[in-house]
Amino acid sequence: MSSPEAPPGPADASTPARRTHGGETAGERAGGVARSLLDPRTWVHMLRLAHLASYSHVRELRRIHLGAGVRIAPNATFRNGERIAIGKHSHIGEHDMIWAGNSHGRITLGDYCLLAPNVTITASNYAVVQGTPVMHQPKEERDVVLGDDVWLGANVIVLPGVTIGDGAVVAAGAVVTKDLPPQCIAAGVPAKVIGMRPLPDGADR
Ligand SMILES: CC(C)(COP(=O)(O)OP(=O)(O)OC[C@H]1O[C@@H](n2cnc3c(N)ncnc32)[C@H](O)[C@@H]1OP(=O)(O)O)[C@@H](O)C(=O)NCCC(=O)NCCS
Repeated sequence: MSSPEAPPGPADASTPARRTHGGETAGERAGGVARSLLDPRTWVHMLRLAHLASYSHVRELRRIHLGAGVRIAPNATFRNGERIAIGKHSHIGEHDMIWAGNSHGRITLGDYCLLAPNVTITASNYAVVQGTPVMHQPKEERDVVLGDDVWLGANVIVLPGVTIGDGAVVAAGAVVTKDLPPQCIAAGVPAKVIGMRPLPDGADR
């Protein structure tokens, strides 16, 4: 039977410094942190991050029409907040992106909507005519409307022009390209209706 390994003792001259999972010693890591704090580019980058948080979250939040009791993750991002409305008690998850159009495309969420993390809702597409870089083509904007009590699972993408009916559930990872009826369960790319939400016990359809 092999004997159990002795627990690591205090470091001395005969004991090599312990390495982290990244392969560096604690001293090397501390040196790296110190070097990065002395690098002016670190501070410029932090300012850029603060600016990103301001223009995509803080500034836009002031423009959004928010119902009572809405909860929004601090890293959700918004564009053109003056064309976004979120109904009461809805929840916007971590890393969600709700991007209304630059000129007229609106995004409207009903009451009690639940958006899981990493949901993207956009009201604009670029035109894709050949011969001009896409980024230089005009945007085509169409409204997006979610009814009340809509649940979008993690990583759902909702494209311009889509209306999702009250009570619809969209499965994780779906891409919604066309309207969805109330109370449906939809999944896939593109999203298709795979069922309906069950009625409570004893209720008639
Ligand atoms: C949509 C959802 C609610 C359906 O749950 P459910 O009614 O229990 O459905 P089931 O697990 O019984 O699956 C029903 C069918 O849909 C399929 N399905 C389930 N989720 C799917 C998904 N995300 N994408 C594609 N198909 C899916 C199943 O494979 C199954 O297919 P089958 O009948 O051919 O076997 C659930 O799958 C889901 O996506 N939840 C989102 C979870 C999430 O994002 N959580 C974050 C916290 S807010």
